[in-house]
Amino acid sequence: MLPPPTPPLIAPSLLAADFARLKEEVVAVERAGADWLHLDVMDGHFVPNITFGPLVVKALRPHTKMPLDVHLMIAPADPYITAFAEAGADHISVHPESGPHLHRTLQHIRSLGKKAGVVLNPATPIESIVNVLDLTDLIMVMTVNPGFGGQAFLSSQLSKIAALRRLIDDTGRDIVLQIDGGITAQTAPAVLEAGATCLIAGTAVFGAPDYAASITAIRNAAPAPLPELGASSGG
Ligand code: DX5
Ligand code: ZN
Repeated sequence: MLPPPTPPLIAPSLLAADFARLKEEVVAVERAGADWLHLDVMDGHFVPNITFGPLVVKALRPHTKMPLDVHLMIAPADPYITAFAEAGADHISVHPESGPHLHRTLQHIRSLGKKAGVVLNPATPIESIVNVLDLTDLIMVMTVNPGFGGQAFLSSQLSKIAALRRLIDDTGRDIVLQIDGGITAQTAPAVLEAGATCLIAGTAVFGAPDYAASITAIRNAAPAPLPELGASSGG
């Protein structure tokens, strides 16, 4: 008999929270059952939007036990990694395009005692990370172009997620496969079917009237292919 399926980790993205009430929002999603808190750091250069830096991570750190999952959308990222680690980040994820030496960057994150992640933009191929899997704790697949919340899910990325699932399984390594962008209770089944183990959701959680109901609906989504899967990709 097959073991029961493990529910995915749910990581609400603070980007969609009320920025005037950040502490209350963090406490609310933790009470609502969130597993990790996803923090989107944007510099107006690597992506066309600006959010916050290590000071906000440090300010929120005492108010939650959730692991802080920091997604760096900044270039260069290397000069700021120590500051985010010292601010209390538990996971630090970078895009391969944000610096010239991804291997060194991941080594640096690990040397600070943090989990190291790599983020793949929609156009970034799997090949960009196959040679650094031994240094990778998390792989994040962007199912929107990074920079903004509330964008439409790109179903073209489902085949990449499934290929990464096979790659991770082949390595036998304990690498978390995260999906970021356009996650809702409607899109979650397809990414779970493809093999995701952590779902990041901004608008679908913080934009909902009942955070607990929204988190539960995403977590309990039954893996299933998208109806249009196998037809053309789109968003
Ligand atoms: C986009 C960010 C995402 C974003 C997701 O650049 O990386 O984490 O907050 O927002 P939704 O869930 O609204 O697509
Ligand atoms: Zn993100």
